[in-house]
Amino acid sequence: MSIDYSQKIPNNVNLSNDRTLQRALEHWQPHFLDWWREMGPHDFASADVYLRTATGVDAQGWASYGTVKMPDYRWGIFLADAIPERKIGFGDSFGEPVWQQVPGEFRSQFRRLIVTQGDTEPASVEQQHLLGHTCPSLYDLRNLFQVNVEEGRHLWAMVYLLHAHFGRDGREEAEELLARHSGDADKPRILGTFNEPISDWLSFFCFTYFTDRDGKFQLKSLAESSFDPLARTCRFMLTEEAHHMFVGETGIGRVVRRTLEVMKELGTDVAQALRGQGVIDLPLLQRYLNFWFSSSLDLFGSEVSSNAAGSFANGIKGRPDETTQYQDHVCTDATYELPTPDGKGGVQTEKVSLRNAMNEVLRVAYVRDSEIGLKRWNMQIQKAGHDFRLKLPSTRFRRSIGAWANVPTDLEGRFIAREEYQRRLPEWLPTPADRTYVQSLMQRVSTPGKMAGWIAPPDRGINNLGLDYEYVRLN
Ligand SMILES: [Fe+2]
Ligand SMILES: [Fe+2]
Repeated sequence: MSIDYSQKIPNNVNLSNDRTLQRALEHWQPHFLDWWREMGPHDFASADVYLRTATGVDAQGWASYGTVKMPDYRWGIFLADAIPERKIGFGDSFGEPVWQQVPGEFRSQFRRLIVTQGDTEPASVEQQHLLGHTCPSLYDLRNLFQVNVEEGRHLWAMVYLLHAHFGRDGREEAEELLARHSGDADKPRILGTFNEPISDWLSFFCFTYFTDRDGKFQLKSLAESSFDPLARTCRFMLTEEAHHMFVGETGIGRVVRRTLEVMKELGTDVAQALRGQGVIDLPLLQRYLNFWFSSSLDLFGSEVSSNAAGSFANGIKGRPDETTQYQDHVCTDATYELPTPDGKGGVQTEKVSLRNAMNEVLRVAYVRDSEIGLKRWNMQIQKAGHDFRLKLPSTRFRRSIGAWANVPTDLEGRFIAREEYQRRLPEWLPTPADRTYVQSLMQRVSTPGKMAGWIAPPDRGINNLGLDYEYVRLN
């Protein structure tokens, strides 16, 4: 169904046919806008931004591009088209027709999942609240704002489900989604990573590379859900999410390229010399990668989880690409071998039911996907003739959740003494000096076509426009 933009809330769910729901969402809308004005991009409400807006939900040509002031962005409710006769793809009800309503017995599980997903969306906008001030170019500023408005729309996506399917509880949860704030001492966001500040653009690129990619895997597994409105919502969100990871991957790639240029000019890889020229030395980049990767791994939850087993059994949350990647969609007898600490300084292999290991299945797929960017960045480094390689740390490193939580290991995942771990952390994670240095590079560049000195220009502009196009007009 096409998107109706004549409504107060643009949508393709026939909202005007359900007056009660429409009124409830129109009541929430000004609260959302207040939140956006207060917690969204700081100081840019009057800027004209070259943004894409959804015009349809099919893969071809869903976006139209134009200049918009962000508070006028048309946030709305867009579900991917229904798949006719869609059947449940996994779990105990495999093969039965999908649900258009939430079954009563799974209501609280669904609600918790939707709230947790919904909470991450505005959280990231809050984390990036001040970043616009220090943009390395107008191109990047526009990308930041594109990500921000789409995360705002993802919040709409989850709020729609809460309002449409969870009655009064759902409406209360929708209000709470605007009341919690990233990093707030009293009412923080639900998940740890979403309370980490993103106060520099290197962190932003790492976040969009690693943390938005967690989002991709969560959405892919929810897109398999038996609750069809949730599946359709997530399928459309995934098309938006792809751009966020593009921003991360190309952002880090451009940092690498710029650093390699200066390494060549100076004929050195000595960090101090490179910092003298205002670029980001590769070991410093590696420490940022270590930080954001390890933090994002925790988002998948414990390796062994009865919650995850229940979600799978009940058809709530499947595996990414459940239909195409797996033969056994029920997994009652299947097992999974899990390396865990044996408590005596060694590693044991635990055999657990596959259903209980679904979080780990998701995490492993995520790690594999995360490798893709590293291969590309390393290719650049190799071509430039350097031996240095960027690497993902072991999934055991610096975990706060699951079997490896608080187990001191090095980047390779080898056990080390806690004292050694503490002592060597500055080798592995951004130090205060690193952060201060990165912060010192964060100077706003807002001349069309110009780039900050620490990052190379992108290969191409947005939607076939040139790099010198004025992607954001600051008014
Ligand atoms: Fe999102
Ligand atoms: Fe995202």
